[in-house]
Amino acid sequence: MAEFISVTFPNASTELNPIPNAGIDRDYLIRYARNLDDYGFNYTLVPYDSSSYDPFTIGATILAVTKQIKVIIALRPNTLPPTVAAKALATLDQLGGGRVVVHFIAGGSDVEQAKEGDFLTKDQRYARLEDYIRILRRAWESAEPFDWDSQFFTFKQFSNRVRPVNKTIPVSVGGSSDEAYRIGGSLGDIFGLWGEPLKETKEQIDRIYAEAEKAGRVDRPRIWVTFRPIVAETDELAWEKAHRTLDALTTNRANGQGKVPAVAPAPQNVGSQRLLEIAARGEVQDRALWYPTVTATNARGASTALVGSPQTVADSILDYIKLGADLISIRGYDNLNDAIDYGRHVLPRVRDGLKSLES
Ligand SMILES: Cc1cc2nc3c(=O)[nH]c(=O)nc-3n(C[C@H](O)[C@H](O)[C@H](O)COP(=O)(O)O)c2cc1C
Repeated sequence: MAEFISVTFPNASTELNPIPNAGIDRDYLIRYARNLDDYGFNYTLVPYDSSSYDPFTIGATILAVTKQIKVIIALRPNTLPPTVAAKALATLDQLGGGRVVVHFIAGGSDVEQAKEGDFLTKDQRYARLEDYIRILRRAWESAEPFDWDSQFFTFKQFSNRVRPVNKTIPVSVGGSSDEAYRIGGSLGDIFGLWGEPLKETKEQIDRIYAEAEKAGRVDRPRIWVTFRPIVAETDELAWEKAHRTLDALTTNRANGQGKVPAVAPAPQNVGSQRLLEIAARGEVQDRALWYPTVTATNARGASTALVGSPQTVADSILDYIKLGADLISIRGYDNLNDAIDYGRHVLPRVRDGLKSLES
């Protein structure tokens, strides 16, 4: 079953119209979350950044004002001891009636990790992530107090009385390095990818499934792919909008108002490096996958667009569902209006398309 993911925004600031130093706008946060809920999105990611808001309290607010939507809490293992994280996630899950997912980030940049005191190498960060996931699962499931003694964590007789509603909490892993595939493939319920062309996405899915099999799993992680659709009534109008969007991203970055500085070093994480390499091969891939937004933002986070009419974008999404991805993350550039547009025009078309595939 295909499901849709959005991303949470705490205020009306967007990449197109940045509001400098915007704080949390509670009304906006609630309006955004309720719109996602009403328009049939299944999840919203609450992202993590060393300089940004606490995902747990944002997540709790969303759960309190919505009915169906699940929150995906982004979590870096360097920021919270695993025993605390196990209880915090389970507490949130109880408050939300079983609507919590955790998305793990090993950490893609040494500089970003150092800001919060994490000086491990990337390989060490992935090794710690593996340990961390095992501890959380044990803490959610174990009936008995347990000890842990590893390179990264040591504790004795940890006893957890805060249980997730559905016995456990789905664990998602994101990244594109070998270690991400291995850990996500062997331990993840979900594996998160950024939007790459169909061929490269298939290669990544095969790698993840191979790791699952190697680990002796009988099941496989569900695959999550991420796009930034630019939708208008017709393909032609959507392409005009795409170029306006690109102009705004470029201008804002040049003025120091972008997500990345005007002059930025090459990204250290493999996922972003892959996006930039594909971007160098050409602007459009497959049906409507557009890469100039990747180059304009130095591939900072999810940045590949899907450009076209609602039907073109829905058909592109269906291409990925046919490949095996069934968690589709879509967020635009005009955050709230785009989420409503997708809810009205894209989600129903994808769901109709799925029905005709099944019949
Ligand atoms: C779907 C998805 C969501 C992500 N969300 C975040 C986030 O909220 N915060 C963050 O720092 N990194 C986030 N990342 C980035 C990666 O997890 C990060 O780059 C990873 O730790 C290292 O990636 P690499 O294995 O590709 O080098 C996300 C990645 C994906 C694919």
